[in-house]
Amino acid sequence: MVVSRTRSLRDVILILLGAMCMHLTSSFLWSSDHVPESIIVKTSVNSHFIHDDYDSSDIVLPPAEVLRPAVPVVEPQRLAAERNVQEQVPLPPAEPEKIDVAYELPETTIVSHAPGWTLFRNLYMSNGTLFIVTSEPRSSFPDIRLITSTGLAAENTPENIAAREPTAENMDFLTPAQARARWGGSPDRWERNRVWSVEGNTYLFNDPPQFLDHYYHFCAELFFGAWAFWQGAFNAVVDPANAALTTAPPVHRAIFAHADATGWRDRPGFNAYFLRSAFPSLTVEVEEDWLDRVIVTSATGEHARAFHFDTVLFTDRSAAFRGVLCGSQNQRTAAEAYTYMMGEGRLAKWWWEPLRRAVLRFAGVDEAELDIGVRADKVVAAQNALPGSGVQVDRVRPNPLLNSQDVVVTYISRQGARRHLIDEDHAALVLALTEMCASKGWELNVVQAERLSKEEQLSLAARTTIMLGVHGNGLTHLIMMPVTPISAVIEIFYPGGFAHDYEWTTRALGMRHFGVWNDTYNTYPVVPDVAYPEGFQGTQIPVYPPTVVRIIEDRIAGRLPGH
Ligand SMILES: *[C@@H]1O[C@H](CO)[C@@H](O)[C@H](O)[C@H]1NC(C)=O
Ligand SMILES: *[C@@H]1O[C@H](CO)[C@@H](O)[C@H](O)[C@H]1NC(C)=O
Repeated sequence: MVVSRTRSLRDVILILLGAMCMHLTSSFLWSSDHVPESIIVKTSVNSHFIHDDYDSSDIVLPPAEVLRPAVPVVEPQRLAAERNVQEQVPLPPAEPEKIDVAYELPETTIVSHAPGWTLFRNLYMSNGTLFIVTSEPRSSFPDIRLITSTGLAAENTPENIAAREPTAENMDFLTPAQARARWGGSPDRWERNRVWSVEGNTYLFNDPPQFLDHYYHFCAELFFGAWAFWQGAFNAVVDPANAALTTAPPVHRAIFAHADATGWRDRPGFNAYFLRSAFPSLTVEVEEDWLDRVIVTSATGEHARAFHFDTVLFTDRSAAFRGVLCGSQNQRTAAEAYTYMMGEGRLAKWWWEPLRRAVLRFAGVDEAELDIGVRADKVVAAQNALPGSGVQVDRVRPNPLLNSQDVVVTYISRQGARRHLIDEDHAALVLALTEMCASKGWELNVVQAERLSKEEQLSLAARTTIMLGVHGNGLTHLIMMPVTPISAVIEIFYPGGFAHDYEWTTRALGMRHFGVWNDTYNTYPVVPDVAYPEGFQGTQIPVYPPTVVRIIEDRIAGRLPGH
């Protein structure tokens, strides 16, 4: 008898599954004190499945314990509730009731919304259109253009702006009756609905690759915003001292609906490094996978089908830009997510720490270094508890790091890249930094990031007190810095030039940002307008080293420079 290899493999799996089902049924029927050590299952399988080289009686299943969860699952909601009693933070939204969409179509609800960021329960998708199924009036939902767009790349032309306005093909409303008429089975005949659930928690990104394949935009903007929104929406309690870190639920999948497999990956490979280390269990779907889901639900009439998404954080860059903050103040999509949650009092102090720690642990950074920020916080709390500490607000404070060797100054040089300092100014800056650090006993690192491994770059960022460099992607590592009361990012611009990318992100993490124009600087709340003057992208960016040195010395002494 000739049996093809694939056939026999598949059959083995089928038999294993059959045996497993039978085993589960049996162990369910037996009382628990009666479960044998191991079970040998003899199945009477259809002869169709039996081959010469295979005997089903050989299957030995693991002891019953192995099939059961051994560890009791801690309910995050209960944990949060216990802590919230003291902290007066609103309780997290209740877990959705499990509904079998084969027989019932639960209505869509919005847990939280800010322009570009919307957390839905029970969102539907059919033929590429997202459907809100509701018996409520449309007016009770946010304007669709603040949720989604056509997902096209953004250009600053009137035609393109118009082409990104969403239509009913992108997102639409159905009443429960309309949804049943499209996808419902007949209840009298016990027919199932033609709706299939995508269970668990999904991040659905509606953006094209334009801003995805870039370390800053992917990690410090998209995931920065998504994480802030997620932690806030669930009122997460985040505790760096606790191994579990956050009470927010896990994320099971990310769908990049308009980017293919290369579309979300940056060239140096930090996006994949970040995603796989921060979310080791996350399943990624890209445009091709999304199109599968679109195509299999594209039939009409009695074959019309839909997917049901249990819990989904839907994000859209163009929609975020329709918000006031992002659109007219700082151009940071994450600012819509973060500021909304901050305003609601829902963001825990260490909200970013779970992702930061996950990535840095993966990179091999040791636990004591991960705790720099938390330790500094405790030192400051102790200082503030001293008598009279509240009197003089601008008083010089002792260094909250334990000793001067803990001060780490990292200058990320761009001299190997297009946009960079005047060569002589770079050399003078390195000299001035070297002298300053030598006289203070601080550690100085002058690095060209592209010459270091990812692990070297990340572990350096993980203990950097002052990060310094010309405006550019290398500064994205600031999201891995320990947040202490003296941490700062110093960004050198061509005089007159300014952008909020690193400025806003630094502040959102609770650190201070200084924008340097040669021999002057600016810092929030007095910051210039966004500008890209001639010279911004060039090789003749000046810097006056004494200005940088003064900023660092004053910052570490706990003063604002020049005060
Ligand atoms: C499915 O979507 C395509 C593209 O948007 C559209 O042209 C088509 O009419 C849709 N089919 C149905 C049945 O709605
Ligand atoms: C930078 O500042 C120094 C010190 O004030 C000054 O001498 C130099 O001319 C400035 N460079 C530019 C390009 O403005």
